[in-house]
Amino acid sequence: MKSFTYRYPVTVYFGEKAAEKNLPAALGKAGKNVMLAYGGGSVKKNGIYDELMHLLTAAGKNVTEFSGIMSNPTYAKVQEGARLARENEIDFILAVGGGSVIDCCKVVSAQAKTDSDLWELETVQHGGPTDLIPMGAVVTAFGTGAEMNNGAVITNEEKKVKGPLWGAFYDFAILDPAYTMTMPMSQVVSGAFDALSHCMETYMGAPRETNLSDEINEACQRNIIRNLRATLKNPQDTAARSELVWAAAMGENGILKIGKVTDFQAHMLEHQLGAYTDCNHGQGLAVIHPVLYRHMLPEAVPQFARLAVNVWGVDPAGKTETQLANAFIYALASFIKEVGLPTTFTEMGIPADTNYAAIADSTVLTGGCCRKFTKGELLAVLCECR
Ligand code: NZQ
Ligand code: ZN
Repeated sequence: MKSFTYRYPVTVYFGEKAAEKNLPAALGKAGKNVMLAYGGGSVKKNGIYDELMHLLTAAGKNVTEFSGIMSNPTYAKVQEGARLARENEIDFILAVGGGSVIDCCKVVSAQAKTDSDLWELETVQHGGPTDLIPMGAVVTAFGTGAEMNNGAVITNEEKKVKGPLWGAFYDFAILDPAYTMTMPMSQVVSGAFDALSHCMETYMGAPRETNLSDEINEACQRNIIRNLRATLKNPQDTAARSELVWAAAMGENGILKIGKVTDFQAHMLEHQLGAYTDCNHGQGLAVIHPVLYRHMLPEAVPQFARLAVNVWGVDPAGKTETQLANAFIYALASFIKEVGLPTTFTEMGIPADTNYAAIADSTVLTGGCCRKFTKGELLAVLCECR
């Protein structure tokens, strides 16, 4: 096992009426000027905005709204938020949404406190933010687990890169499964698959022998598969939804990563696909995973075979390890079809003339992946996904 230090800075308030029960005390520790950040308006339709505004007003806060944060948030949107935060002397950011709002605000928290260009500072000079506006998250769309970490995935449109920037950890995250009940079902499925992908990408890293983190990980994967099936049968199943919300947070709260180097090659490829096409994250992963895993197979046989048996319930009797590994990929691909996720980029509406060579060329090759991919092979993967 890799050496590790484990400490987690995010306080999670999980469950029914988590905002009403916990926000007043949490806001009590925050300064007077609060930025309320949200996306394209779902929070206004489902009443979450009104509930939170009521709690903010009751706490005596001056509220500045930062709205219109788009899916796959852009660096330009980060700059808009940072300007607003500076102009209004924001003391605390309350981010309300899914991964996009939650990520955008992490970088706003850092950019508002420095005149340096954060992209340049972090990606070219390899520095990091030193001063941050404290923040809280209210999760309205589960999947990314973004509320649990301080990495933000931001699209730099000028540079055609969708990549990580580092900002603040949230002081707290409010996870009330009821807040996610109005998510469109396509986003529920996409979010659940993203969470499953985080588990798989963590599992596939080293050490590749059986270990505690991976055994917990297998349980998370089984949980996501079971509860997504239950949710598709009954979208109002609040028990299944609660499990999904917590399983997604588990994927990114560090526990599954303890003692591991992670893989995340599928994510790196999908992020660049996103930079060029602005596609839905979970859907992109669903198309990429089975194809990428067929390419990884020669180096991944023991891990894939374990996933077949321990996660997908394949009977190992009479099967070789390689047959089991193939059975895992088959089970994963079948599940993707079963839950209605796309299986090709064309189905996602990605144009045929997309510059896949540029996407492959600009994709980060991860050190944790068991197969050392070349850019040429990643291009082959992308072409098979078309
Ligand atoms: O913008 P609004 O109107 O709020 O609508 C959103 C959006 O259209 C809607 N939505 C959210 N909560 C809702 C709701 N609609 C109805 N009722 C609700 N309760 O859902 C749509 C998608 O939201 P978005 O935040 O874009 O989705 P997601 O949570 O999947 O986040 C995707 C972003 O997170 C990044 C992705 O790359 C992408 O940019 N990721 C962040 C990670 C991290 N920081 O750890 C890890 C992930 O691997 C991922 O890369
Ligand atoms: Zn993801």
